[in-house]
Formats: sequence, C-alpha cells, structure tokens
Amino acid sequence: ITSQSYVFFIIGASGDLAKRKIYPTLWWLYRDGVLPKNISFIGYSRSQLTIEQIFENSHKYMKIQEDEHDIYEKFLKLNSYISGSYDKSEDFENLNSKANKISHQVNAHRLFYLALPPNVYESVSELISKHCRPASPGWLRLIIEKPFGKDLESSNKFSQHLNKLYTEEEIYRIDHYLGKEMVQNILVLRFSNRIFSRVWNRDSIAGVQIIFKEKIGTHGHGSYFDEVGIIRDVIQNHLMQILSILAMEKPRSTTGEDIRDEKVKVLRCIAPIKLENVIVGQYIDDKNVPKDSTTPTYAQIILFIKNERWDGVPFILRAGKALNERKAEIRIQFRDVPGRMFDEELSENNVERTLARDELVIRIQPDEAIYLKINTKRPGEMNFSIEETELDLTYNERYQGVKLPNAYERLILDVFMGSKINFVRSDELQEAWRIIDPILAEIEKKKLQIIPYKFGAIGIREAFDAAVKQGFIYTRTYVWEDD
Ligand code: BG6
Repeated sequence: ITSQSYVFFIIGASGDLAKRKIYPTLWWLYRDGVLPKNISFIGYSRSQLTIEQIFENSHKYMKIQEDEHDIYEKFLKLNSYISGSYDKSEDFENLNSKANKISHQVNAHRLFYLALPPNVYESVSELISKHCRPASPGWLRLIIEKPFGKDLESSNKFSQHLNKLYTEEEIYRIDHYLGKEMVQNILVLRFSNRIFSRVWNRDSIAGVQIIFKEKIGTHGHGSYFDEVGIIRDVIQNHLMQILSILAMEKPRSTTGEDIRDEKVKVLRCIAPIKLENVIVGQYIDDKNVPKDSTTPTYAQIILFIKNERWDGVPFILRAGKALNERKAEIRIQFRDVPGRMFDEELSENNVERTLARDELVIRIQPDEAIYLKINTKRPGEMNFSIEETELDLTYNERYQGVKLPNAYERLILDVFMGSKINFVRSDELQEAWRIIDPILAEIEKKKLQIIPYKFGAIGIREAFDAAVKQGFIYTRTYVWEDD
C-alpha cells in the first residue's frame, strides 16, 4: 500500500459486459481488500446516467451479503460516472481533466477497461492514447476483450492500429479462459509432475480432446451471433489457448514472456487444417437466425502439430451451444498397453477389446476436477478380473471450503500487478487466426455442409465418428444415445 493513486476506467459502463462482469468483479476485489488503497473508478459511456443508475443495473450480479452494506457504500463512493461520445477529442479531454480532479494526482496509474462494441475500439483506443495518458511516472494499461477482428486480416489491422498508439507492454488482451483455475493448473500439472512429463508426447498419448459444451443457445442474440459463430466465439480463442498450454514445450521460466514464447512456438507448428477434419453444425429452431444462415453453433476441428513431440497425434477441438449440458473439459487418451497379457481374462468376461485405455481428464467446469482413468483388479476377485476406475481429485471434495476466484477477478488483479502470463500477446493472436482463417473462408464459400441438430442434443454423431476414425476409443462406458 503506497500513496500512489490508481484510476480504473470502465469505458462502456452502461453496457452488458460492464453490468454483468466488470462492476461486480471490481466490487468483489474491493470488498476482499486486494485492490490498492488510493483508487477511484470512473464509468464512461454515451448514455446520460448517474452512477446510482449504473449500480442499480449491476446490483443483482453483485451478490451483496447482509453484513457487506457498509463496505459496499464505501465502494460506491469511490465510483463516478461521466458521459461522452466515443469519437470526439473534447469528450476525452474532459474525461482526462475530470479524472485528474477525482484522483487528485495527474500521475495516477490508469487502467482502462474497454467494455465496448468492437466498432468503436479503434476510435476509443486512439482518443485514450491521445488525451488520457497520465503524467509520468504514472503508467497506462489498456484492457481489451475479443473480438480482436473477425479474421486474420482485420485482426492484424487492429493490432497495427494499437501498436501505433501503445506499447505491447501496455496492452492486456483478455481471454477469460486463462483466468480459470483448471486452465491455470495445466502448467503446474504438466511441469511439476515427473509422472506426467515423461509421458506427455506421441509415444504415450493417442489423442487429445478439448471440449466445450453449453446448454444455452445464442441468448436471443441470433443475429449478432450469426456474424460470429462458434469458431470465432470459442474455438479461435478459448480452445486454442488451452491447446497451446497443453502442447507447448517447457518454458524457461514462469514469466509471461517465456511462457508466451513457447505458446507461440507450438502454434506455429500446427499444420493447415484439412477440410475433411472439420465438422460444423447448427441447431434448429432459433427464430432469430436468418433462414439462409450458415453460421455454425457447433464445430469440431481436428488438427495436428508437426513437431517431434506431437507428430501424428490428433488434437480434437469441439465446441457447441444448445447441447444437453454445460461442460468444458480436456481428455487426454493414452495409447494401448503393448503385449496382451490379460486377453484371456478379458475374453472370459465378455469384454470385446483388450484393456481400456488410460485417460487423464481435466474438468474445467462445472465442478473442477482432475481424474485419471486406470485399470485395476476388481477388488475381492480370486482371478485377474479387471475393471476401470479413477484416481479422482474432485475439487469440492478434496478442497472443501476453498473459494476459487472467478476468471475476471484473477485477470483484473493481474493487470494491477502487471502480470502478463494470462493475457494474449499479439503474435499468439496472429497465429491463432492463421490456423482458423482458412476454415472460416471455406464456410463462407459454403464449402462445408452444415449439419442440423436439435436443441439439447448430446452432440453431432458425425463428430464423434470422426474422433473414432482418428483412433479415439470409447470403451464400455461410452454409449451413444440418440436424442
Ligand atoms: C464467451 C463467449 O467468450 O465465453 C460466450 O463469447 C460463451 O458465447 C462464454 O458463452 C463462455 O464462458 P464461460 O466462462 O461461461 O464458460
């Protein structure tokens, strides 16, 4: 705690992201006493509103407890609201001078969260850089969230725009999956356990699946989503990020630059995706979606990493909305055990194949867990009767009472600390688009058949079949249920 002041700007304060995520997150961080002492928060957007109205909108997301009213009042007092345009210099000059007054310091550190529609990113980022920079030694940090463009070209163009105005040091690109407990844990799991580090390669691993499922459809935002689709919305960012951490080589250190160097390196090794390895689908019956829409709400992309560690191992990225459950998980399937020592026992027990494969499952949500599916001798049996079981680390059983901060809490705190580990560097972004871009182009050209599926379906059969074709084996526990 120093006398240095901080100002946190929520640009787009009247919008949905600010209401549902940013204001509640700032409140929780303040309540938990982890923010700097001399801090003020300034909301900014076009609407003529008062700070009370802004807080009223957020109220139901803030989850204020009975005994927190006093501290909540204190938090409210640190907040103010200013309205103005997104494209006029004088409005940002005004914002700047008001911020100086509010913080009583012209060299307060300034954090700008752009909770804005992407069509004003360019003008707002330019006006902030021109008019709202703090006096030295105050620093500026700009927090932005996807979409970073809609394809490789527009993303590069936006990066170039930002690079003219900010140093890479100043830019914090959010991918909120990097703030999730289990995504952060991949690094520890991989590089602090010899039992995993020795087998984390093509010699032992048969295939990797990274799966994202949601029950909700497109929130009634059918026409917005129609321009985006599940590949841009989830796969290009969240699932590619997970993939790069899962597959990268060991970083030299835990600094943001070393880790991101390795992530970029592995992304560069990803071979162009073959069209036959892409499956796209769209759920039926969203009234908001234009009739001729070809936007996928479900997609599976199988890709290969051409390096010594991973050559030939399929990485299956699968994401869908309007499915039967909400789940995000990683499934790493190990190769068969060589030699067939237990075949006789298994055939006596009517098992159609040899041993089930080991599988390591990292469940990101809901109910964080890591479990390793293994074979074991059925307890009490007199012969080598074998069954599948799990070594199970389910968080809410093992870590009862431990509160896991949500992704935005961690990430916003990271920005205060200047930690870049969990933010996307421009070269990472560029590589992710490089990989995905050709697929999007094919979809646009209507080269891919869009498979329809029912709201609430388990998935698309063709996608599961494609995984099986790549050598994934679903053992006894796997039964396809038609909806
Ligand atoms: C967002 C997507 O990035 O992630 C949404 O735009 C999606 O479409 C959301 O619903 C999922 O986030 P979470 O944290 O609920 O898994």
